Amino acid sequence: MTTTPTPAKSVPFGNLKAHYQDYKQQLDAAVNRVLASGHYILGKELDAFEDQFAAFLGLPEKRVVGCASGTDAIYLALLDAGVKTGDEILVVAHTAVPTICAIAKTGATPIFIDVCPDTLVMDPKDLEAKITKNTKVIIPVHLYGQMVDMDAVMQVATKHKLVVLEDCAQATGATYKGKAAGTIGDYGAFSFYPSKNLGAFGDGGAVSCNSDKAYESLKMLRNYGQSKRYHHDEFGVNSRLDEMQAAILSAQLPYVKEWNDKRRKLAALYTKLLKDVVETPVEAKDNFHVYHLYVIQTDKREELREWLEAEASIQALIHYPIPAHLQKAYQHLGNKRGFLPKTEYMADRILSLPMHQGLTEDDVEYVCHKIKEFIGSKTGSKV
Ligand SMILES: Cc1ncc(COP(=O)(O)O)c(C=O)c1O
Repeated sequence: MTTTPTPAKSVPFGNLKAHYQDYKQQLDAAVNRVLASGHYILGKELDAFEDQFAAFLGLPEKRVVGCASGTDAIYLALLDAGVKTGDEILVVAHTAVPTICAIAKTGATPIFIDVCPDTLVMDPKDLEAKITKNTKVIIPVHLYGQMVDMDAVMQVATKHKLVVLEDCAQATGATYKGKAAGTIGDYGAFSFYPSKNLGAFGDGGAVSCNSDKAYESLKMLRNYGQSKRYHHDEFGVNSRLDEMQAAILSAQLPYVKEWNDKRRKLAALYTKLLKDVVETPVEAKDNFHVYHLYVIQTDKREELREWLEAEASIQALIHYPIPAHLQKAYQHLGNKRGFLPKTEYMADRILSLPMHQGLTEDDVEYVCHKIKEFIGSKTGSKV
């Protein structure tokens, strides 16, 4: 006898309002502490968060610099690496477009790399053919919460003397062979956008680095190039993680491991219930995937997404429907459809199901039940 799980309900993609209620006491205490302090920019809350986040990553103190967003984290790291107009940066087109915005802001050119068709992250085998005398940096994007094959990336980078900047915006807490995202390359760029695995209540980001020199320089770059008050040693911008967001992040950091474990448990349940009906995410060997997003693949992506929304009040999203090389803003680079076959094929098939630490097993069962209902009404087999 089959049982029908849970009566009809709605499953939004995320629920930050409920997240605030769940952690209200800790969050309110952090905000009130900052409000009462009279100090809102570059103070002890930021110093504390930077060192706590470094420890979370397994790094010593003075290896993390907070900044205003994940986009700025990439931009600041590129500036620190000396990237300038005319340089070329190897990066996937299958990423959140801000990765590319940060490159464009330096004047450098993104050179697009295809993805592995199973894990959907950068295929290191596509790197060497695209290296020229202008290549300066490789940006492996640890998309959806899973890291790129970093041994292969580091091998190419070492051979060609390239800088490696890990885009860890979606991978806080992910590991590769036991090493945390953001600790293998020269730099790691983190986003604390509210829905990320560790999210601020506003914008925020951080750069991790591997030397005192980079740490000191990044601190100047984010603060008008200032070494001390009114002494500007280099070019810089205003990109600081404010005291309020730093306190909010410190209040939540102790829970990130537990939240990531919960995401992994929910992902395992999705996979168990869906593996015979759609393509489920592939976890590469030696990877601790933290499921910022749970992404399935199906030829009936559009139909399924619309049906879930209309018939079952389930919100599923697409990350990302148009690869960066096909975006209007980057047409001047001259990359046409057909340039990245694996990226283009999968961009039409991916669908992100609801995933966040507040989601319940009941929610997952309901989503899977509805997907099976849709598929049953179509073919009765994988779509
Ligand atoms: C892979 C990736 N890189 C960079 C960013 C940019 O981060 P932010 O929105 O904090 O600027 C994001 C966030 O959407 C992202 O997902």
